[in-house]
Amino acid sequence: MNDIRILVGDCLKMLPRLNPETIQCCVTSPPYWGLRDYDSDGQIGAESSPTEYVANLVKVFREVRRVLRKDGTIWLNVGDGYARNGGTGNCGPNAVVGNTRKLIQKRNCKVPNCWGLKDRDLLGLPWRVAFALQEDGWILRSHITWIKKSAMPESVKNRPSNATESIFMFAKSSPYYYDSKVVREHSGANLRNYWMLGPDPSGKGHPAPFPRELARRCILLGSREGDTVLDPFGGSGTTGLVASQLNRRAVLVELNSDYAEMTKERASVMESQLPMLAMERGKEYGRNGKKARLKAAHS
Ligand SMILES: C[S@@+](CC[C@H](N)C(=O)[O-])C[C@H]1O[C@@H](n2cnc3c(N)ncnc32)[C@H](O)[C@@H]1O
Repeated sequence: MNDIRILVGDCLKMLPRLNPETIQCCVTSPPYWGLRDYDSDGQIGAESSPTEYVANLVKVFREVRRVLRKDGTIWLNVGDGYARNGGTGNCGPNAVVGNTRKLIQKRNCKVPNCWGLKDRDLLGLPWRVAFALQEDGWILRSHITWIKKSAMPESVKNRPSNATESIFMFAKSSPYYYDSKVVREHSGANLRNYWMLGPDPSGKGHPAPFPRELARRCILLGSREGDTVLDPFGGSGTTGLVASQLNRRAVLVELNSDYAEMTKERASVMESQLPMLAMERGKEYGRNGKKARLKAAHS
């Protein structure tokens, strides 16, 4: 039953390989605009303007809509950022921080010329993406606030520190599959739209994994055992690993082969639960873990 398939490449090129209406739910977190450098050509999030970023995500999710079943849903975690002008050194927009050469620091020396943005404006990107997807035909069903139990500290003194992110739930059409009984509040009441989660050390090695509990909730709410779950921005494979533990199949797409390898390593830790791992790129591994054949396609 358990089956994780990893497609290594640009999701805009890899998603067309999937058969239409084969995916029940998509649980994903794309790179946030201008924040991290995932060291790959063609990475989403590195566009020179946030309007291009929004347009690219609309294109990706248009392809997701093609592969989603009629009653399917998407669960989209997306973060925000600030418009900034200038700055260098350890703290300014051109600083090198942690393990990421922050794209925002290379590029955000200039406030983007859109949406009337001014220096220090919050971009409002999650909602801009949500509205763009709504306009493109998705039914926007829920905005869930992910309250971070251990948010990254911010050294700001002129506004409250950020400690939340957005998760949007969209349906392809109505009616759609949603299991309201499977995840409940402790009191037994219907699940509320604020989730206090994390931190989760299991995705160590990737700069921005989401907590397994986030994936677990979305997968349980949006799919049944035996269904296939998609993550077009697979990263270190959290969606796939959790889907597998919940007896779903998973298809992951990831541009950076190092992260795809990381998924394999995480999967091998729980190998007994993951007898089948297929990986495509130059190499394809058979569903039973045996190397099956070589493929020329690089994407
Ligand atoms: C926020 S991370 C996802 C983390 C993931 N949820 C996890 O738990 O590990 C976004 C991922 O998207 C990948 N990515 C960026 N552009 C991509 C593209 N065009 N196609 C596929 N993956 C892409 C990045 O390499 C990065 O690993």
